[in-house]
Amino acid sequence: MFTLTHLAIPIIAAPMAGGPSTPDLVVHVSQAGGLGFLAAGYKTPDATARQIQEVQHRTKRPFGVNLFVPQSQRFDENAIAAYRARLQSTASKYGVELPKAPRIDNDWYDDKINLVISLGVPVVSFTFGLPSPSVVAQLQTAGTYAVATVTTVAEAEAAASLGVDGLCVQGPDAGGHRATFHVDDEPEPLPLVDLVKAVSLRTDTPIIAAGGIQTGDQVTDLLERGAAAVQLGTAFLRSPESGAKPAHKDALVSQQFTRTVVTRVFSGRTARPLLNDFIADHEGHAPAAYPQVHHLTSGLRAAAGKEGNPKASPSGQVLGTGRPQTNRQQGYCARYGPRREPSTPLTRRLAAVSHWLRLTGSARSRSAAALPYRDACGDRWSGALIPACRSVSGMSLLALIASQDRVQGFNGD
Ligand SMILES: Cc1cc2nc3c(=O)[nH]c(=O)nc-3n(C[C@H](O)[C@H](O)[C@H](O)COP(=O)(O)O)c2cc1C
Repeated sequence: MFTLTHLAIPIIAAPMAGGPSTPDLVVHVSQAGGLGFLAAGYKTPDATARQIQEVQHRTKRPFGVNLFVPQSQRFDENAIAAYRARLQSTASKYGVELPKAPRIDNDWYDDKINLVISLGVPVVSFTFGLPSPSVVAQLQTAGTYAVATVTTVAEAEAAASLGVDGLCVQGPDAGGHRATFHVDDEPEPLPLVDLVKAVSLRTDTPIIAAGGIQTGDQVTDLLERGAAAVQLGTAFLRSPESGAKPAHKDALVSQQFTRTVVTRVFSGRTARPLLNDFIADHEGHAPAAYPQVHHLTSGLRAAAGKEGNPKASPSGQVLGTGRPQTNRQQGYCARYGPRREPSTPLTRRLAAVSHWLRLTGSARSRSAAALPYRDACGDRWSGALIPACRSVSGMSLLALIASQDRVQGFNGD
């Protein structure tokens, strides 16, 4: 059975629903020695099965599939109707008819559970809540590694007591939806490094740290604070293998955008997109109702996505903040958006840091890690860096990695 310590490279490409997570991205990251993730959210079981089978056909390496846990919370129909009325003029502008009644679904959850078991998916992660104990048991019996996404220490304790194999600890800088167990939870503001530390003090369940990670020294920091692996979404969004729309990729580095915000306007759940005019107009008016608000706005978002004007449009460009925002406390700064770097070298470059940790023995066993890592690292600069790892001191190597990150890792192109 898969475990995180089997990964040659402790880097995971986050599941990103809505298009960015393609089989191609998953294959590239898993082949590089990390772990690629398919995002099953919003997809039919058939479409999910096709993606899983394509990945299995192209690589024998482990990969994951992420599922949305169905929401069972009460919602306020009047608040949804009021939000619908508010969106009506924008809908008319785009020629979209908004659904008349709130729509609820479970995202084909049960079918997808059966699917991942029958297809022998090595890793399955959950977001928006916990799977039932019987689902965890079924997955584990089938040899699948089960991961729960958590955003607070209390959620982590609940997930650990359920017996999941891993915890994906998502911090406040993360792109996409916040994985809170309840739709109306307000997101935990504790910075990721502190959250990882706090969770690691309360449970022995292996931790995957996620949210705002873009550079090698962040990877090091999180591994040293107790994470067994790190999960990056935004960093892969502009890679050629990402299925994000071209307008979305461009928006990530466009000077038109100066910051990200946490908002419910698109789906009723809190998520972090680039601030645009639609958010500015409607912030504070969307009720905490998921998936009802998601379905209410989905036609609108699709129509707006075709228009290709992300600044004005009701389509959200979701992404994490990356570290510059955290440092400056200014909001996301577009010129520091993720590079248009292929996912294979990106995975390997960031992983050079973990190699140093392994060689110095501060995180894991040297002998177990050295060989698979060497196999996985063939590309230009990480290939050159690996021999350097053996000859320079830890601190000089970290300085070298940090300088490489500054030069290559975090600019507009
Ligand atoms: C475009 C986008 C879509 C996402 N979709 C999902 C998803 O379907 N399931 C999930 O568990 N997390 C999803 N996430 C969140 C990621 O798993 C991860 O927590 C986040 O990307 C980490 O922050 P970063 O983007 O700053 O690296 C998504 C993130 C982005 C940017």
